[in-house]
Amino acid sequence: MNKGTSDIQLLGISGSLRRASFATAILHGAGDILGARASMTCFDIGQIPLYNQDMDGDNKPESVVALKQAIESSDGVIVSSPEYNYGISGVLKNAIDWASRPGFNSVLKGKPVLYMTSSPGAVGGARAQVHLLELFSATMSRVVVGPHITVAAAQTKIKDGRLVDAATIEFIGGGIDSLLREIAAVRAAQS
Ligand code: FNR
Repeated sequence: MNKGTSDIQLLGISGSLRRASFATAILHGAGDILGARASMTCFDIGQIPLYNQDMDGDNKPESVVALKQAIESSDGVIVSSPEYNYGISGVLKNAIDWASRPGFNSVLKGKPVLYMTSSPGAVGGARAQVHLLELFSATMSRVVVGPHITVAAAQTKIKDGRLVDAATIEFIGGGIDSLLREIAAVRAAQS
């Protein structure tokens, strides 16, 4: 969705399938904040079936193969999740479970990951942040550390599907700067 002029490729994943999702709007906002510094494409996790280890062999569902390829070929992943019952959404957990195999050696291992949460409520999905940290620790990803990116009262910060709140844009911008630094560190270590 965002076409940057640099060679950095990011993958965006929204944890909500809702058409007018705040989490998805915030993810698109992150793409806008990236500007020319990176390209970002978003992966629709709505096509991914429920995890079943019996299907997780040589003949995985096409959508799962596509997700894993998209993660593998990216330099980093930006996840934007709603908070459902103090955790992340089931669809997001399901997608990450598929992507996380083989355990401790999946496409997510060593992958820079920046995550954000949002909610119409007062704490912006802060309780789901704990869940995200545990999830991406289990996958041995390079979690971007810094202030937790939470967007509270999300409905007041999004207009016509676009993130418009200046303070939130600046806040997310700090996380994106950290993600790009992490990617630069990974590249430097590989060269
Ligand atoms: C919610 N919602 C919610 N909000 C919150 O702040 N904390 C929570 O624990 C929950 N739990 C929860 C569970 C379920 C099953 C639903 C459907 C909703 C409200 C939620 O934040 C709100 O519906 C958001 O708009 C969902 O995110 P998207 O779709 O706008 O990205």
